[in-house]
Amino acid sequence: MPVVAVLGNHDYESGTPDDVKNVLSDAGVQILDGDAVEIEGVGIAGVKGFAGGYGRHALGPWGEGAIKSFVNEALQEALKLEAALAKLRTGHRVALLHYSPILDTVQGEPPEIFAYLGTSRLEDPLVHYPVDVVFHGHAHRGSPEGKTVNNIPVYNVAKPLLQRSNPDLPAFRIVEFARN
Ligand SMILES: [Fe+2]
Repeated sequence: MPVVAVLGNHDYESGTPDDVKNVLSDAGVQILDGDAVEIEGVGIAGVKGFAGGYGRHALGPWGEGAIKSFVNEALQEALKLEAALAKLRTGHRVALLHYSPILDTVQGEPPEIFAYLGTSRLEDPLVHYPVDVVFHGHAHRGSPEGKTVNNIPVYNVAKPLLQRSNPDLPAFRIVEFARN
């Protein structure tokens, strides 16, 4: 079975994300970082994403250099997602992220940390290049489902959240596509 993934912030903690990527690649996992793959007619665009907050309350690139760098990291991740989405020519399309592109699926977390769980800057490319479904993780105490402003279903598939939401089911979500 093909396995496609994006790295998360934990994969960066060691300071050697390329080593993590290589270990996973050697195990047969395709790691996406601003690129896209097509599997059986389903296109998947993936990027880790970054934090920064949502809507008009998102952090802006103003003031200290550290703040500008922080916001720029989110903007670069959004551009990588846009580039990956632009490559997809398939009838069915999936966006894979670690951080959340919408506020809905971080609801349930302490409001003080919403801005560290993702950013709507990652939602903008999904408006220009719509997909069928978006998956993300990171918000372990968030909500399982939400929608982008253009009504794309967004699923928070953080394992602890799935385990808590459906303790009797395996901790994954299945999305089916009809063959074109
Ligand atoms: Fe995370």
